[in-house]
Order: sequence, then structure tokens, then C-alpha cells
Amino acid sequence: MTKPPPTSRNRASLTYKLRYAAQNPDKIKIYLSRMARDLKFRAAHRSHVAYYRAVMRSDAAKSPEAAVGSPTRERWLKLGQMQFDYLLQHGLKPDDRMLEIGCGNLRAGWRFIDYLDPGNYYGIDISPDILLAAQHTLVHQELQDKLPHLSLVDDLKLHFLPAQHFTVVHAHSVFSHSPIEVIDECLANVGRVLAPDGFFDFTFDRTEGTEHHVLREDFYYRTETLTGLAERHGFKARFMDDWEQLPHGQSKIRVTNSGR
Ligand SMILES: C[S@@+](CC[C@H](N)C(=O)[O-])C[C@H]1O[C@@H](n2cnc3c(N)ncnc32)[C@H](O)[C@@H]1O
Repeated sequence: MTKPPPTSRNRASLTYKLRYAAQNPDKIKIYLSRMARDLKFRAAHRSHVAYYRAVMRSDAAKSPEAAVGSPTRERWLKLGQMQFDYLLQHGLKPDDRMLEIGCGNLRAGWRFIDYLDPGNYYGIDISPDILLAAQHTLVHQELQDKLPHLSLVDDLKLHFLPAQHFTVVHAHSVFSHSPIEVIDECLANVGRVLAPDGFFDFTFDRTEGTEHHVLREDFYYRTETLTGLAERHGFKARFMDDWEQLPHGQSKIRVTNSGR
């Protein structure tokens, strides 16, 4: 049987799992322990946010870098640089007011904070553990004088933030860990806080086959599902083709107010 291309694979299917296990016997133990953790957290946490917060607590206790998806410090630095360079080439200016959804331990955030005018970075995250790690990053990079905001959130209603304030909203590797209800909630509310000329860039794990998730941690969507959802919430949505050239497994969409 020929292997389907990455964007068509259903990682939740038994065939995929068996083939993957046969090709990567060293990963079986890790997968089984993730499965056990999934069962335990699922029994303890009803909402996805509570569930994923527990995942982040468990992962951040081992390594905040790995918890946001970078197995080494070097990869953490590279991935942050990639996000920063891309946004700089796609419109970021020092006087932008930026909201970073799922800011993690500021892998890219510290570079945005460094670049933006003081007070213009606002990071939110559901994980108190990763926000504490974000404070360490700020200290390590000596960015205290930039006065960034870091806030813990329980949902993506964004009710506590001012209307039409943010010129740039950024969510890297957040919707790839989110069920569709969370993405829907975000898209239903982000328009209120977005400045009329602002844009919202987010990455997602793309599939051209069946939409699926793996252990409630990694979610795979078709592009048209997310662009359609954004359009239903009154946005224009654009697939960012040039992001595909970069060495990163996810895809990127930019949404803007449809009047723009
Ligand atoms: C893979 S990490 C990426 C962090 C950061 N964007 C980066 O690129 O380094 C995903 C982050 O999103 C956060 N997160 C997941 N679901 C979220 C949600 N619904 N609202 C806010 N943050 C969320 C997690 O706690 C985690 O810090």
C-alpha cells in the first residue's frame, strides 16, 4: 500500500497507528503513556480548556520549551525566529498593538515584545504554569521595561479586553490543539477587539482528508472548514501560501475585517 501524503493521513486511524508503531517501535512506550494520561485527564476534566491546562501542567513541569513543542532550546529559538521574521515580512510595525493568543513561554513573544513599542504586547494563555515560564523568559531577555501584559484566561471570549484595540492578533500552534468549539468561540469574539484595519494570523494542522484529532491534543482541519467559519463570523480569510515554503508542519490563515 502506498503511503498517503502528510496532509491526507488520518493519524487517528488504526491503520495509521499500526504502521507508525511498526516503523517507530521506540515511540510505542511514549504513545502508551500519552494514552494513559489522556484517560486520566479525561476522567478528571470535563472541559477541553481544563483538560489541556492539565496537559500543559504535566508537560511544563518537565520542560517549558518542550511543552510548547520545541524539544531543544535551539529549536525553541529557531521556531520563535521563524514566526517573528514572517510577521515582520507581513506587516508588523513597532507601533502595532498585538494580542498573542496562547502565548506560551514567549517562544516568539519575547521577540515581539523586544520589537514593539513599550506596553504594546498582550499575551494570554490558559496555562498558569506556562505563564510563569513566560515571566522567566522576560527576565532572561531583560525585557521588563517593555511592560508586556501576560494574562491567564479560561476561555476565548476576550470580554475583558478593549474594543477595536489590537492591530495584530497572533495565535501560533493554538488551534492545532483546539476542538472546533474553541476556534468558533475565538472567531466569534476576536472581531470585537480587532482594530478596523487589523489582522488575525493563526496556524493550524491541515488535513486534506478526514478531520480528526489525536488524543485530544492535536487537531487536524481542512482549510475550508476554518476559512468558512471565519467568513461566517464576518471576516475575509486568506490561506498564506508563502508560509508553506517554511520548514514548519502547520499551515497559516490570515483573517481581516471583511470591509478591509
Ligand atoms: C504549542 S503552544 C504554542 C505557544 C506559542 N504560541 C508559541 O508558538 O510558542 C500552545 C499554547 O497555547 C495555549 N492554549 C491552548 N489552548 C488555548 C486556548 N483555548 N486559549 C488560550 N491559550 C491556549 C497552551 O497553553 C500553550 O501555551
